[in-house]
Amino acid sequence: MKIAVVGTGYVGLVTGACFADMGNEVICVDIDKDKIKKLENGIIPIYEPGIEEMVMRNKHAKRLSFTTELKEAIKKCQIIFVCVGTPPKESGEADLSYVENVARVIAEVMDSYKVIVEKSTVPVETGQQVAKTIRNYNVHKVEFDVVSNPEFLREGSAISDFMHPDRIVVGCETEKAKEIMRELYEPLHAPIIFTDIKSAEIIKHASNSFLATKISFINSIANICELSGADVEKVAEGMGYDKRIGRHFLNAGVGYGGSCFPKDVDAFVGIAGKMGYDFKLLKATQEVNNQQKKRFVRKIEKSLWIIKGKTIGILGLAFKPNTDDMRSAPSIDIIKELQNEGAKIKAYDPEAMEKAKEVLKDVEYCTSPYEAAKDADALVIVTDWNEFKELDFKKIKVLMRHFLIVDGRNIYDPQKVKGEGFNYISIGRKDV
Ligand code: UGA
Repeated sequence: MKIAVVGTGYVGLVTGACFADMGNEVICVDIDKDKIKKLENGIIPIYEPGIEEMVMRNKHAKRLSFTTELKEAIKKCQIIFVCVGTPPKESGEADLSYVENVARVIAEVMDSYKVIVEKSTVPVETGQQVAKTIRNYNVHKVEFDVVSNPEFLREGSAISDFMHPDRIVVGCETEKAKEIMRELYEPLHAPIIFTDIKSAEIIKHASNSFLATKISFINSIANICELSGADVEKVAEGMGYDKRIGRHFLNAGVGYGGSCFPKDVDAFVGIAGKMGYDFKLLKATQEVNNQQKKRFVRKIEKSLWIIKGKTIGILGLAFKPNTDDMRSAPSIDIIKELQNEGAKIKAYDPEAMEKAKEVLKDVEYCTSPYEAAKDADALVIVTDWNEFKELDFKKIKVLMRHFLIVDGRNIYDPQKVKGEGFNYISIGRKDV
């Protein structure tokens, strides 16, 4: 099938590369000339395991191409995926001007039947608005369908999530669009849930909000565990065996971050409010998440007594492992608060340091976890990169000024760290 993917951000690039890899002919479009030039030369603007090889393989096979010519791409393809950005406005609402702009251009140039697939995360009713815009500007009075096909990719495992999805959600209104979407996704052998457009849009909001709520729930349980002397890891395990609950996303930590959960939860609270529903549960999810980062800084303070003048080594800056993404990373709030209290920060992350430099100033960026530990009064784990799970504690002990590890992701066995001669503070477990 011939597919145009408009927007070569995270979602667009992964979607385009994966559809090409499935044998389709894909044209990726972006207004950013520099980005398109780089992509044509095999320079990938994001860090995502496997994406570079996949892009190159499909480019060479001539199934994947990059262009800034939106109109040409629309004319050539029957299916158009809209993957442009929907950044938050100051009010927290999503800015849909890029989506509207693409819809208008499609309407003006299309001269044969098109399926316009909305993949960017958008507020419910956007599909309806896109269809209305296309009807209003439909110069050649051509037949078209609008489809909502939300994505559920996680950064760091996006390709495998795309190729092996738990489910595919398709919101559409006609049999014709339904058949085209079925044919497109059939090779993945995953369950396809066909719904109306609004339900598909809400499935996306509801899924991300539910996962964020699950994280805030387990973080609240972790806080109760700390107060009562219980162990949140055991509690999560005990809960997780119940199939109705499940163990996934019950990892207590410093709170969720990233480009999706904070923004999407915010947007959903806003959309619900606009429709006349006060989504108190989600507001509590947000509140717990904000408090979790503050509580973590208080934990560090409690162990060091005075933060002012102390050197703190931070391991992990990205909002989660296997990505260089710093958007709404918990490390930002944590480091800024420690700096406000007068700490000197040394930090190491395997991938995110270049991006971190743009948002976190006055930080000594280190080339290894050991360099970050050197002369530190505390070593603080903020992101659970695998690389940190097997550190040489003996080496670290020689380097640090004070033997304290504060683990915001529970990556170590407390008894093991204690056995190495460290004080160890983690989340929802007893300090040792
Ligand atoms: C999330 C969803 O998981 C995807 O399904 C969705 O497609 C995507 O948003 C999106 O809307 O684009 P992502 O933001 O890449 O994916 O990352 P997650 O793996 O969901 O992690 C989000 C945050 O929650 C991270 O900061 C992570 O450290 C944190 N987290 C996750 C926890 O604190 N505990 C957990 O148990 C799980």
